[in-house]
Amino acid sequence: MNAVSEPILTVRDLSKTYAGGFQALKNIDLEIDKGEIIALLGPNGAGKTTLISIICGIAQATRGSVSVAGFDIRKDYRKTRSMIGLVPQELTTDSFESVWSTVSFSRGLFGKSANSAHIEKILRDLSLWDKKDDKIMTLSGGMKRRLLIAKALSHEPTVLFLDEPTAGVDVSLRKDMWKIVEELKAAGVTIILTTHYIEEAEEIADRVGIINNGELILIEEKTKLMSKLGNKRVTLDLCDPLSNVPATLEDHSLELSEDGNQLTYTFTTGGDRTGVTAFLDDLKAADIHFKDLNTIESSLEEIFVNLVQESS
Ligand SMILES: Nc1ncnc2c1ncn2[C@@H]1O[C@H](COP(=O)(O)OP(=O)(O)O)[C@@H](O)[C@H]1O
Ligand SMILES: [Mg+2]
Repeated sequence: MNAVSEPILTVRDLSKTYAGGFQALKNIDLEIDKGEIIALLGPNGAGKTTLISIICGIAQATRGSVSVAGFDIRKDYRKTRSMIGLVPQELTTDSFESVWSTVSFSRGLFGKSANSAHIEKILRDLSLWDKKDDKIMTLSGGMKRRLLIAKALSHEPTVLFLDEPTAGVDVSLRKDMWKIVEELKAAGVTIILTTHYIEEAEEIADRVGIINNGELILIEEKTKLMSKLGNKRVTLDLCDPLSNVPATLEDHSLELSEDGNQLTYTFTTGGDRTGVTAFLDDLKAADIHFKDLNTIESSLEEIFVNLVQESS
C-alpha cells in the first residue's frame, strides 16, 4: 500500500435508511488503495449489497459521501461510474440480443470506443467465446453469470465490484473467476468482493472488512486480523495420562481429553503476553511431560463468528 497516493475509493460517514425507515448502513468509513483486493464479509442482510449499490449509483445514501479516484459519485457520476465495473448479485439478464452485442454495447454505454480485441479476450477468458452469437435468453444460469462478469469488464474498469460472485456457481466458473481476479490485480485493478465463503476471503483478499447490522465492525489486513484476533491452541500429547487438571495449572485455560492423554491450552496471540512460558514452567513444576505438541491457529471463520457474536 502506498501512503502517498490518494485512495481509489473513499467512503465517508455513509448511512442509508430505506423508505420504510429501516437503517441498512450506519456511518460507514472506508478507504481502499489502488490495486487492493478487499473482501467484505457479513451475514445476509448485513448491508453489503446496499453499500455496493450506493457506490455504483444505483441507490442513494441518506448521509455521507463517496469518491472514486477523488471524484464525487454524485457530482461526477458519469466519470466515476465509468471507472467502476459491477457484477451484481442477482441475475437480471434476459434478452434477444447476442452475447457479443450485449458485451460490446455495454462497453459503449460507458463512453469507451469499440475494441473487439478486448471483448474477444474477455469472452475467451470466461469460456463464452463459443456462445458469442447465442441469444442471452438461451443461456444457462452459469453462462448468464459469466456474461454479467464479461459486461462488468467490458469497459476496462479501475475498480471492480463482485457481489457474492461465487454463491451457487460451479467449480469451473469459480476457477475462471479467480484466475481473472489475479490477472486484474496484476494489472492494478482494485477489487471489492462480498462473500459468504470465508475460505475465499482467506485465500484471495489483502484486507477483510466485516459488516454486521449495517456497521463496518472492522477492516484489517487479513494476516493481521488473523494474528490479532485469532486464538491459538496447543495440544500436548502427554507421556502419562492425567485423571484431572492439577490445581497448580488451574489459572491456565486448559482442557483435558476424556482419556486423559491430551491437554489443550488456548491463548490469544494478540495479548501482550501469551502466557505460554508461564504455562510451560507450571507444567514442568507439576512434573507433567509430553511427547508431542501441536499448534492450531483459528481460521478466519472462527474469528468472524466471534466478532459477529460480540457485536450483536
Ligand atoms: N429496497 C429496500 N427497501 C427496504 N429495505 C431494504 C431494501 N433493500 C435492502 N433492504 C434491507 O436492508 C438490509 C441490508 O440488505 P442488503 O444490503 O441486501 O444486505 P446483504 O447484501 O449484506 O445481504 C436488509 O435487512 C434488507 O432487507
Ligand atoms: Mg447482498
